[in-house]
Amino acid sequence: MNREAIEKAKRHFERILEEQLARVERLKQDEEWIDFRELKPLYIGIVGGDGIGPYIAEQAQRVLAFLLANALESGQVAFKVIEGLTIENRARVKKAIPDDVLEQLKQCPVILKGPTTTPRKGDPWPNIESANVAMRRELDLFANVRPVRVPQEGIDWIFFRENTEGAYMLGSKGIDVTDDLAMDFKVITTQGSERIIRLAFDYAQKNGIDRVTAVTKANVIKTTDGKFLSVFYEVAKEYPDIQADDWYIDIMTAKLVDPQRRTQFRVMVLPNLYGDILTDEAAQFQGGVGTAGAANIGKRYAMFEAIHGSAPRMVQEGRTQYADPSSMLRAAAMLLNHIGYEHLGRKLDMALDICGQYERKLVITGRADGATGAAFADYVMDTLKDPQLESRWERYQQG
Ligand code: IPM
Ligand code: MG
Repeated sequence: MNREAIEKAKRHFERILEEQLARVERLKQDEEWIDFRELKPLYIGIVGGDGIGPYIAEQAQRVLAFLLANALESGQVAFKVIEGLTIENRARVKKAIPDDVLEQLKQCPVILKGPTTTPRKGDPWPNIESANVAMRRELDLFANVRPVRVPQEGIDWIFFRENTEGAYMLGSKGIDVTDDLAMDFKVITTQGSERIIRLAFDYAQKNGIDRVTAVTKANVIKTTDGKFLSVFYEVAKEYPDIQADDWYIDIMTAKLVDPQRRTQFRVMVLPNLYGDILTDEAAQFQGGVGTAGAANIGKRYAMFEAIHGSAPRMVQEGRTQYADPSSMLRAAAMLLNHIGYEHLGRKLDMALDICGQYERKLVITGRADGATGAAFADYVMDTLKDPQLESRWERYQQG
């Protein structure tokens, strides 16, 4: 009996090894970065997703349309609304991303995406893979870039979470060897580590930041985290003006809570699962995951999203119009930065700081006692219209 189980597991493992080694060969080819300026129109895909997703995505699209009015008019950019990335549809075809949706996604070098439901064991849905995880893999979006800023507290962090490997890569390909023995796999490659680590150092260099911190658990998870860490220090040698240090994930979660220490961290780079966990904690200082946006960057595609879930309870209770679009608007600002409209991205961030953190003339509570998402988006657009936006923002910054 055990013999048979072992043979079966070995075959499974063999297939995994073949796939992974083939992937390493592909990574070695080291693709060029796409140049958005060469595309006309540049298609921005809008994907609603599940639950509150379509509602907050709609508000983000309104604000983007407002900011990009000229570029839309001149045909420089165009929106493509992509339907069908819903849990009902995915459950029906039993795929993380239905084929026709994937095809549409691939026509859009940049994508703004609402949250999608991730089924887990015991849910009414078939236990299909997360659409997020699948999209990151299919479009090779290897960098999950998540900034967290709380100026009043001196917090100014940016996390570079590796997005295609680690504990996630084979998260749906573990083995139940027997009824009692379950095994998952964690994958780290030299090439996969190098590209995310380099992006973090390049970011630091470009922005005049003199410290990059790696976060691992290399004292215990010696092989994979060990590789990530040694690649980190190898790459660091190419940036002699930047101080490189590393922390273990457990003490790092503690240090983020320590007001004495946390402001010293600026750029952090970390394997997938640690990045998942640490960025939720970090976002909490800024007001929770609802306030944070994330960029998923690859060389040919980029996808921008909220880092929170689809809030099915809000849908069940008929409260979708009160859902907070802030995270999607932050994601939209990152999208603008990424496609070369940095001045618009910066303005949107300033307006969101003013509306959400300082002035707070409208407050979203998620219920009827708060503002609707549409009213909040209007408030943001009114703020964007203010020719004094920048000085207004600076006044608030100074307290
Ligand atoms: C995130 C989310 C996803 C993740 C889930 C929805 C699969 O938590 O983007 O951080 O774990 O990466
Ligand atoms: Mg997460």
